[in-house]
Amino acid sequence: MLSEQFISELKGRNDIEDVIGSYVNVKRRGRNLVGLCPFHSEKTPSFTVYPDSQSFYCFGCGAGGDVVTFVRRMENLDYIEAVKLLAQRAGLAMPEDGYDDSFAKLKTRILEINRETARFYHQSLVSPAGKKGLDYLRERGLSDSTIRHFGLGYAPESWDAAIKHLLGKGFRVDELVAATIAVKSSRGSYYDQFRGRVIFPIIDIRGNVIAFGGRIMDGKGPKYLNSPDTPVFKKSRNLFALNFAKSAKEPALILAEGYMDVVALHQAGFTNAVATLGTSLTAEQARMISQYAGEVVIAYDADGAGQKATNRAINMFGEIGLKVRVLKVKDAKDPDEFIKKFGATRFRLLLEGAGSAMEFEIGKLRQKYDLETSDGKVGFLKEFAQFMAGIRNPIERDVYVAKIAAELDVSKEPLSVQIQYIIRQQAKNAEKKQSRDLTVFAAGAKERRDPQRTAHLKEALAEERLIGILLKNPDYHRTILERIQPEDFLTDFNREIFRVICQRLQEGRPVELIALSEQLDEVQMGKVAGILADAASTRATQKEAADYIDTILAGKAKKSPEELRQMDREQLGEYVAGLAAKKKP
Ligand code: UTP
Ligand code: MN
Repeated sequence: MLSEQFISELKGRNDIEDVIGSYVNVKRRGRNLVGLCPFHSEKTPSFTVYPDSQSFYCFGCGAGGDVVTFVRRMENLDYIEAVKLLAQRAGLAMPEDGYDDSFAKLKTRILEINRETARFYHQSLVSPAGKKGLDYLRERGLSDSTIRHFGLGYAPESWDAAIKHLLGKGFRVDELVAATIAVKSSRGSYYDQFRGRVIFPIIDIRGNVIAFGGRIMDGKGPKYLNSPDTPVFKKSRNLFALNFAKSAKEPALILAEGYMDVVALHQAGFTNAVATLGTSLTAEQARMISQYAGEVVIAYDADGAGQKATNRAINMFGEIGLKVRVLKVKDAKDPDEFIKKFGATRFRLLLEGAGSAMEFEIGKLRQKYDLETSDGKVGFLKEFAQFMAGIRNPIERDVYVAKIAAELDVSKEPLSVQIQYIIRQQAKNAEKKQSRDLTVFAAGAKERRDPQRTAHLKEALAEERLIGILLKNPDYHRTILERIQPEDFLTDFNREIFRVICQRLQEGRPVELIALSEQLDEVQMGKVAGILADAASTRATQKEAADYIDTILAGKAKKSPEELRQMDREQLGEYVAGLAAKKKP
C-alpha cells in the first residue's frame, strides 16, 4: 500500500488538466474543460475535466475518475503501473517497498517469456528443423531480410518444444500459461499453444513482443491462430506492424486485412501498412490510427467480406472524423497477391488512385442501378440525393452533384433543389427528435446498465446524493453513520462505494478521488466522478443529507407486493404505522 503522503504529493505534481491535455484536445468552458471523449466515439464533446475536484467525467459513456484512473484507462495499466508512470512524469521517486506489484511483475515476466519465445521460433525457422516453414515463407515471396525484419518464426510440430525450451531458461510453467504459450490440457498436462505453424510476432509501439499469430501450412485447424488476450495483450487495442508504421514518412496509414498483406506491403516499400489482429476493426484501433496519421487508406480484400468490412471501417473512421480513402484491389484477391502478380509500382498507382470514402459509396450506389435505362437513372438519382443530403459540407456536396450530373447527362439544378428539400425536412425531424431525446439523455448510458438502480431509481439517486454530500463534507460522516449504514443501501453498486468511503473516514484517511482510486475500480470511479460533478452545484447541507437518508430508509422499509400479500392484517397495520413514523425523524 502506498502512503497517503506519497499519493497526495503525486496528485499535487500531476495536475489533471496537464495530464489529460497531453492526450486529449480539451477547451476551456467556464471553470471546466471539455473535449471529445477518448474512451468512446463521439462527434460532440461530452468529456469534461473538473480542475476543482481534479476529476474527469464523460456524460456520453460514463467514464470518469481522477488522474490515475485516466492514465490507467488511456495506457491500459493497472493501478501501480499508472502511479509509477505519473511518478516518473513528475520526477518523483517511487517508495521502495510496501506495495503489491505482483501483477506488474507478472507482466514483465510475460514480456520476457514472449521475447524468448520469439527468439526460439525464429531460431527454429532458420535451423534445419524449420525448413518446411522457411520454404513456405520463401515460396510466398518473402526475402530473408523481410523474414528477419519481422522476426518471423516457426513453431515446431511438437507438443512441447517451446515449453521445454522456456523451462530450460528458468521460466515457470504457470507463467507460460499466463503468457498463453503453454496450454493446460483437461488431463492436467501442458502443451504448446502453437505447433507446426509459421509465426508472426506481434510487437507493440514500445518494441515489446506482446503476442503471436501463427499460420498453418497444411493439415487441420484454423488458418490463423492468434494468442488470446493476456495481461500484456489486448487484441482490440493493438495493430500488427504499427511498431514500424508509426515512423513511416507518409501522412497516411494503409489498413489491410491480413498479416501476409502487411508483410508483403512492407517488403514492397509500403512501410506505413498495418492490420488488425484476427478481428474486425475496433473503435480503439480506429482512434490509434488517427493518432498516427492524418488519413487512412483502407486496402481490404476484394471479396464480399472485405467490402462489407470496408463499409464498417468507413463508418468507424467517420465517427472520429479521420479522412478515409478506399483502395480497390483489382484482378487479385488481396494486396499481397496483387503485389506478387503486378509489382510495387502498380500498387503505388492503385494507392494514388484510391478514391475518397464518398466515391466508394457512390460507386456502390451506381452498381445497384442500370444507368442505361431512364428508370435506372431516376432510381439512382433519388437515392443519390438522399445520400448527398447527409453530407454536411456544402462545397463537397456541390462537387459530387456536379460530377454526377455531368456523368449522367442531367442538369444539376433540379438535383440540387431536391437535395436542399431533403436537408430541410431532415432538420425539422431532428429538432423534434432532439427535444424528445433531451429528457432521455439525462438518464445517461451508465445507468441503463444497473437493473437495481432502475428498480429503485428514487432511492438510488438519494444514495448517490448522500455520497456526494459526504465527499463534499467528510466531517458529516459521524452524524450520517448514526442514522444509516452501508447495509441500508438498496443498490449493491452504491453500497460498496459508500462502504469504502465510510471505512476510510472512520480510519481518518482521505477520500479525495486520487485516494479512492486505490480501492475503487474504473466503473466505480466513473460513478464517483459523476457524483462529484453533480455535487459541485449543490450546497450539501446536513438537512439535505437527512432528507436523502429518509428516502433511502423509507425505500428499504418498503415491502415488495409479494411480501405485503403474505402479511396478516395486524402485521400490515404495524408496517404502515412504521412507514408513517419514519417520515418524521
Ligand atoms: P485471410 O483469410 O484473408 O488470410 O484472413 P490472409 O491474410 O490473406 O492470409 P494468407 O495470405 O492466406 O496467408 C485475414 C486475416 O484474418 C485473420 C488473420 O489476422 C488474417 O491475417 N484470420 C484469418 C484469423 O485470425 N484466423 C483465421 O482462421 C483466418
Ligand atoms: Mn487475405
